[in-house]
Amino acid sequence: MPQTRLDLDRIHAARRVVDPMFLDTPLYPCDALGRQLGCTVSVKLETANPVRSFKARGTELVTSLLVEQGRTAVVCASAGNLGQALSWSGLRRGLDVAVVASKRAPATKLDRIRALGAELELVDGDIEVARARAADIARQRGIRLLEDSLDVETCEGAATIGLELAGAGPAFDAVLVALGGGAMASGVGHVLKTVAPGVEVICVQPAGAPAMTRSWHERRVVTTDSLDTIADGVAGRFPIPEVLDDLLAVTDDAVLVRESSIIEGMRLLLEHTGLVVEPSAALGVAAVLEDRERFAGRHVVTIVCGGNVDLDAYHRWVRP
Ligand SMILES: Cc1ncc(COP(=O)(O)O)c(C=O)c1O
Repeated sequence: MPQTRLDLDRIHAARRVVDPMFLDTPLYPCDALGRQLGCTVSVKLETANPVRSFKARGTELVTSLLVEQGRTAVVCASAGNLGQALSWSGLRRGLDVAVVASKRAPATKLDRIRALGAELELVDGDIEVARARAADIARQRGIRLLEDSLDVETCEGAATIGLELAGAGPAFDAVLVALGGGAMASGVGHVLKTVAPGVEVICVQPAGAPAMTRSWHERRVVTTDSLDTIADGVAGRFPIPEVLDDLLAVTDDAVLVRESSIIEGMRLLLEHTGLVVEPSAALGVAAVLEDRERFAGRHVVTIVCGGNVDLDAYHRWVRP
């Protein structure tokens, strides 16, 4: 049994709390994509839900707990998808939700947060500046601060993806998980290392936002000064020590990919699976593109984890 902050019983219990529309997402082989990549590729599709990302698996859990505790308000920092998911889950439960995001976040993510009735504050800097501001707001108002990946519910919610993967057949060899704060990778990793330890769990991050991957390899927190990636959903500079410890316990590798590979991954997903995805969701395909030999002939699952993308930028990226 891997030693992390996560608990398999609680992850099973989470399935009864998360709205079923976020659960049991499609998992299917994509032969055309596999032919392009030289391996068997299955897609775990996390975009066909009202917030177009996996993040609601965690926010469903968080908000139901808040309601149980009699809390009425919550604030989070977000690159966009957590904020959208928290707004969705909070709205359904009558919670006041405040979200702090970067002014540079994709407009579509910010618009959706506002449309879901949340209070949205924009900061000049990146996600780390937003995190600091959200903590200030929580202190000033005396409300709950939701901290993605640090709050174990965000990891255990995402871990329900792992339960679904473990319960699916036929067996696969590796799962590629986009790595940001680490909630998804630690969650999926915890479940797979508990019930299907033979499956390789590989975290993928952009070379332009490498802090957690560098930390993973150096086995200590490494921070960076700046971010330079289109994969806004996974871009952070200050890894959380507790999450790093969990990742070290339940993931087999962490790799960095180039921006050009992320764009090529988005293009291949559009062309060969018909999926419009945001850059973070193409990280898995990018990882195979950069190391075909490693995956040759194997069965790989890539989690297509988000589809919130500004159309103008998307067209610019995928245009041949
Ligand atoms: C689309 C998408 N992919 C990947 C991630 C990274 O997930 P985590 O922060 O759980 O590592 C996020 C985070 O918000 C996301 O929105």
